[in-house]
Amino acid sequence: MMFPHPDIERVLISTDEIQSRIAELGRQITADYRGETVVLVCILKGAFLFMADLCRHIDLPVNTEFMAISSYGHATKSSGVVRILKDLNESIEDRNVLIVEDIVDTGLTLSYLIDLLSARHPKSMKVCSLCSKPQCHKRVVKVDYCGFELPSEFAVGYGLDFKDYYRNLPFIGVLKPSAYEQEE
Ligand code: IMP
Repeated sequence: MMFPHPDIERVLISTDEIQSRIAELGRQITADYRGETVVLVCILKGAFLFMADLCRHIDLPVNTEFMAISSYGHATKSSGVVRILKDLNESIEDRNVLIVEDIVDTGLTLSYLIDLLSARHPKSMKVCSLCSKPQCHKRVVKVDYCGFELPSEFAVGYGLDFKDYYRNLPFIGVLKPSAYEQEE
């Protein structure tokens, strides 16, 4: 991959920073759930890389579940209206659920997901998000494990997309304005 990528204005989080923070999160989760089994619920598409790396740093019996959602509205703004494209395969009743998210921006998506999954009576439910933009939160959402706090800019890479592109960048960065203009 070309680096720096021609569409990236600046890198926010390098590949090495991402990987070492994920190892720390994995150690913390392993310690917190000692003696328990956890269902990791990956929210697709954005969290697929994070989930893949995180689960390899969790030294516990884990189950992996995947939920695919899509937000309606403009590509860079959350409407909070979430459409479930793929639901979980298994019941989460009486199980420890850890939601694995890519980024919490307004918090609308996460609060919707928490309401939805809480109604299925898990034993416990926590949230692990790679990134959070605290200045953008519109809902009070508790992110139990947060990888990085980001400024209120639109970020791409390491699972984060713009119009479904850039997920494969191994770092997180900000797009050049010209990259948005090409896509409009
Ligand atoms: P929220 O509902 O505003 O918290 O937005 C949540 C979802 O919007 C995330 O799971 C992402 O899919 C997407 N999103 C929010 N901010 C960004 C960003 O900076 N880059 C890429 N996707 C984002």
